[in-house]
Amino acid sequence: MDTKKALDFETVELDDPNSALVIIDQTLLPNEFTYLHLTTQSEIWEAIYDLKVRGAPAIGIAAAYGAYLGIKGSIAKDFDSFYKEFKTVKDYLASSRPTAVNLFWALDRMDTCVQNNKNKPIAEIKEFLRRESEEIKAEDVWVCKTIGEYGLSLLRPNIGILTHCNAGQLATAKYGTATAPIYLGTEKGYNFKVFADETRPLLQGARLTAFELHKAGVDVTLICDNMAATVMANGWVQAVFVGCDRVAANGDAANKIGTSGVAILAHNYGIPFYVCAPTSTIDMECPTGKDIHIEQRKPEEVSEKWYAKPMAPKGVKIFNPAFDVTESKFISGIITEYGIARHPFKPALEEIFQKKAASKK
Ligand code: MRU
Repeated sequence: MDTKKALDFETVELDDPNSALVIIDQTLLPNEFTYLHLTTQSEIWEAIYDLKVRGAPAIGIAAAYGAYLGIKGSIAKDFDSFYKEFKTVKDYLASSRPTAVNLFWALDRMDTCVQNNKNKPIAEIKEFLRRESEEIKAEDVWVCKTIGEYGLSLLRPNIGILTHCNAGQLATAKYGTATAPIYLGTEKGYNFKVFADETRPLLQGARLTAFELHKAGVDVTLICDNMAATVMANGWVQAVFVGCDRVAANGDAANKIGTSGVAILAHNYGIPFYVCAPTSTIDMECPTGKDIHIEQRKPEEVSEKWYAKPMAPKGVKIFNPAFDVTESKFISGIITEYGIARHPFKPALEEIFQKKAASKK
């Protein structure tokens, strides 16, 4: 199958004439492929909280469109009132999920756009916001493709690759981050054998990664999270690629719960473990993984969500962190759109940001 055709869907889109954010309802996949047209702020907030749209870059894009739509109908006559309204919209959307830094990064970009244009008429500021949100999405396509090219340079044909959660097309505007080298390699006939961890409790690996890779004609095998050691011990995995929600300045990386265990296993079996991270996911203000706010989610996601009947005794204590932090010592490289950072990560990441700054001049 032609991967370009298989990836021919939009994860997040702006329908400006109808003032709507258009997303695929990812909670219904793989059984139903349904687009939602969200027009109110509470619909957009809930779509992010409920993981109808999810994955760090896609959350950022959705929030940018949400901020534009939230302020598009403003009847404010002066900048101060307009900016006050904008801040209310921004703060509300920012409260939808805490870990993925792209949410705050995208909203801050929209904020900067408002402030940089404060002397312009309100109608023009709104137009700048629309353009900025479209720019955030367009940039993500380039970012993911470039991460894919750097990632692919580390790989050879016919190898086994393991991934965790969904850092794919469904988590970004296109290509995904961890899946980008897989898609680009598949277009070149690399014939990778991909193992997708199912990703308890919300099954992003089973419902989303297996779905999109299979649709794209990639050789993908779904495994339960607790089978990763077995496929590694069997010698079936030569590299691990994962996405991330926030990378701290020292290279510690927060990603979907279970990622850290995969990294420790990869270390044990001598398998390189790569984190694919757009620079929008790297938070140099955050010194280490210990400073990353980890989202705690509802206990029912563990005990009942995907079952016909509850699968845990009523009233039992449940711990449900959505993410964990992989210590940088288990990470072989952090693949960004400005190159691959390696140990020691702090100066390497600083250099990545210097390259980014230089490219903007
Ligand atoms: O809770 P989710 O589904 O939003 O978690 C997603 C992940 O952890 C992804 O791996 C991460 O956001 C990177 S997406 C390119």
